[in-house]
Amino acid sequence: MEKTFHIQTFGCQMNERDSETLAGMLIQKGYTETPVRAQADIIIVNTCSVRDNADKRFFGTLGQIKKIKEQNPELITAVCGCMMQQQHIVDTVKSKYPWVDLVFGTHNIHEFPRLLENIENEKKKLVAVWEDGGEIVEGLPSERRYPFKSFVNIMYGCNNFCTYCIVPYTRGRERSRKPSEIRKEAEALVKDGVKEITLLGQNVNSYRGSEDADSDSYMDFSDLLRMLNGIPGLERIRFMTSHPKDLSERLIQAYGDCEKLCRHIHLPVQSGSSRILKEMNRRYGKEEYLDLVRRLREAVPDIAITTDIIVGFPGETEEDFSETLDLVKKAGFDSAFTFLYSIRKGTPAAEYENQIPEEIKHERFNRLVDAVNEISASKNREMVGKVADVLAEGQSKNDPTINTGRTSGHKLVNFKGKPGITGQIVKVKITGSNTFSLVGEQEE
Ligand code: SAH
Ligand code: SF4
Ligand code: F3S
Repeated sequence: MEKTFHIQTFGCQMNERDSETLAGMLIQKGYTETPVRAQADIIIVNTCSVRDNADKRFFGTLGQIKKIKEQNPELITAVCGCMMQQQHIVDTVKSKYPWVDLVFGTHNIHEFPRLLENIENEKKKLVAVWEDGGEIVEGLPSERRYPFKSFVNIMYGCNNFCTYCIVPYTRGRERSRKPSEIRKEAEALVKDGVKEITLLGQNVNSYRGSEDADSDSYMDFSDLLRMLNGIPGLERIRFMTSHPKDLSERLIQAYGDCEKLCRHIHLPVQSGSSRILKEMNRRYGKEEYLDLVRRLREAVPDIAITTDIIVGFPGETEEDFSETLDLVKKAGFDSAFTFLYSIRKGTPAAEYENQIPEEIKHERFNRLVDAVNEISASKNREMVGKVADVLAEGQSKNDPTINTGRTSGHKLVNFKGKPGITGQIVKVKITGSNTFSLVGEQEE
């Protein structure tokens, strides 16, 4: 009988992309994917460590997997991803969760087939975590989730060390892929039917890609966008994430030059208080951020701007928080991900003494969400009556004329359309709006 695998992925697009690579490797080895975890021969959990609730959900999942392993002692259990790049977590897994067979990290995903063979043959537990990223390994297989859109990594790691954030410790230093490798991958995806690519990096604005490590010449992010914009058959280019401190005039200009570049930017602000931003080591202030927003809107009037905001960073006063509310109103975000500050062991802010009590964090969080939602709703209302280009991404199972898709500004649209349009970019008249989505009808 064919062997099956199941992968559970926590965290960001980086992890989703890594899971696609793991799936590709397993399929190459003759495995097939199963949606039913309890029936799989291999279970992989790809972990995230960005906030405490991600850690908690992981340990909860391990508890469920224990029961599956009791039913099926032949089951191979593997855990990987950002949590495994932290020694204290690996120690906990080893001591408290002995039913885990294989632990590996974010830097040695390419070793997975070999590690798995080791487990299969020797039936011994194995921990293989590299402390830092070596050379970028190209040409790994990948099993994509969608036929018509795909992520493309352009760089790995992060050098920014925002004081609250664990990512620089779990993903290592910044490394950019060669432009020629990115181009090759994008061209192959287009040949395979992909219309939209999303370029991934923790801070795409600091992309520095060169063909020859010894030469001084490199492509920056806007050069890369211009190059990819020229690929025939590719219809949309997105990217994330973009750090405000490195957002260049050249990138703003690229929106004018690249018709395939979606009219959207995810530009995490984190806080509206310049004092807190300094404590966070973000290297920009409130006014600088608002100035970027102004310049973006001037150059690209229909651009959608989305963001991430953290509430309750150590030392945040009511005054700091009201600066955040003020910035949210002035920036006019199309939507925002809002987070409660979460202490991450090993980061500088974890050691700060003036941690904010949970009830104050929650109370501010609720006020922030109300403010953000009100603006999102009004931004969405502005879309009513317009016609938008929408990439149709799926149909309702019950009614194939009910489609869902995304505008260039990344807004979710539920719309009535012709059956069989999934994977195509169609014109949709926007007829209604909600806080988190739009409603529409496909134009004839
Ligand atoms: N590289 C991206 C974001 C990566 S993490 C960037 O710099 O924008 C995604 C988001 O998680 C961050 O933007 C931040 O808002 C949030 N985040 C990171 N660490 C956090 C922490 N310790 N507590 C709460 N939210 C956090
Ligand atoms: Fe974390 Fe800051 Fe790097 Fe983003 S830029 S991954 S928030 S350290
Ligand atoms: Fe989480 Fe790692 Fe992404 S910590 S947010 S999965 S880079």
